[in-house]
Amino acid sequence: MADHASSDETRTLRYGLVGAGTMGREHIRYVEMLEGSEIAAIADPHAPSLDAARALLSRDATTYATHAEMLADEHLDALIIATPNDTHAQILLDVFSTGVALPILIEKPLVTTPEDAERVRRAAEEYGAPIWVAMEYRYMPPVQRFLDDVHGGRTGTPRMLTITEHRFPFLHKVENWNRFAARTGGTLVEKACHFFDLMRLILRDEPVRVYASGAADVNHRDESYDGHVPDILDNAFVTVDFAGGGRAMLNLCMFAEGSQYQEHMSVIGDVAKTEVGVPVASGHWTALERDAFVTFSPREPQGPVHHDVSIDPELEAAGGHYGSTFFEHQRFQEVVRGAADVEVTLEDGLRAVLMGIAAERSAATHQPVDLDFARS
Ligand SMILES: NC(=O)c1ccc[n+]([C@@H]2O[C@H](COP(=O)([O-])OP(=O)(O)OC[C@H]3O[C@@H](n4cnc5c(N)ncnc54)[C@H](O)[C@@H]3O)[C@@H](O)[C@H]2O)c1
Repeated sequence: MADHASSDETRTLRYGLVGAGTMGREHIRYVEMLEGSEIAAIADPHAPSLDAARALLSRDATTYATHAEMLADEHLDALIIATPNDTHAQILLDVFSTGVALPILIEKPLVTTPEDAERVRRAAEEYGAPIWVAMEYRYMPPVQRFLDDVHGGRTGTPRMLTITEHRFPFLHKVENWNRFAARTGGTLVEKACHFFDLMRLILRDEPVRVYASGAADVNHRDESYDGHVPDILDNAFVTVDFAGGGRAMLNLCMFAEGSQYQEHMSVIGDVAKTEVGVPVASGHWTALERDAFVTFSPREPQGPVHHDVSIDPELEAAGGHYGSTFFEHQRFQEVVRGAADVEVTLEDGLRAVLMGIAAERSAATHQPVDLDFARS
């Protein structure tokens, strides 16, 4: 285990934040709730983002227009990167080139192109500090319970995994960077990398083939930016075959904000089925039902066993991911202190992106795309 900031375990850790938009501010709210860490510096060229970020802090932070200025001026214990997808690779390479080994928590998707995936993978080999890719869905309490069922062996060998996300359309972002695949990598990278990461995590296996059918049918059709209508997919089915014979399917719809549960996942093994439902984030809908659920349905004896899973309303309200960003930060803090290992590695982040890129390609060509991570 790396020994980063462990010399004084009681010292408050100083985090630098790059990108103070919607997700950067979610990170701020949860770091504020976490004892032992603070946001000491923020870099963002957009003044309204900096102002909104500052308003959330209990102790003021130094602000910068660029990450380069921040890195040159500050002595930090860790870095959080929450900038638009297509900026991640260069920011990482810039951090690597400073020669300072700073633990990094970087938002998904780690990169947006296969070329950047390779550049970052190679450059990171020499980096002397942990890099954690933010995959918040892993840390939703109901998803953790669902994972316990599968990894605890209660379903038997998982054969079929279904992940459904039925949600609201993409929100407006600073400079509308999320409206075009050229900046996001496409919806199946930007949004679905979470689900491809979950597929690998749940099945404990690697994908070998991806087939996707998707289109931009409903959302953003009446928008135009410099004469261009957004090209991001708003609905898709993606099937993924895994090396060990398990199969997974993603059912993604981004014009389904009336749904009670935003995410629904089920695993069926040779012994039992288990499923989880997570309600839409409270900031987006005043859903009647705020609890998530996990239902375990054995083949024998028949009869589903249902559990409600609730979380602290204050934790939930601080972000858009059922409180998961807080739990992610608790674990990341342990990594920064040198007391734990990274759980979502750079390679996990890259593989989730490469699955998304394959799915985008499959949707465009109507052909399956083979993957071979064993050789990469
Ligand atoms: N894990 C999740 O569930 C989740 C949820 C939302 C967003 N995200 C990810 O977080 C990242 C940011 O998304 P967002 O929703 O906050 O977008 P946003 O547009 O709300 O905020 C992005 C911020 O980054 C700033 N920025 C742009 N280029 C920069 C640079 N080079 N250096 C510093 N700041 C820069 C912008 O000015 C803006 O303030 C994206 O990668 C997105 O995919 C993840």
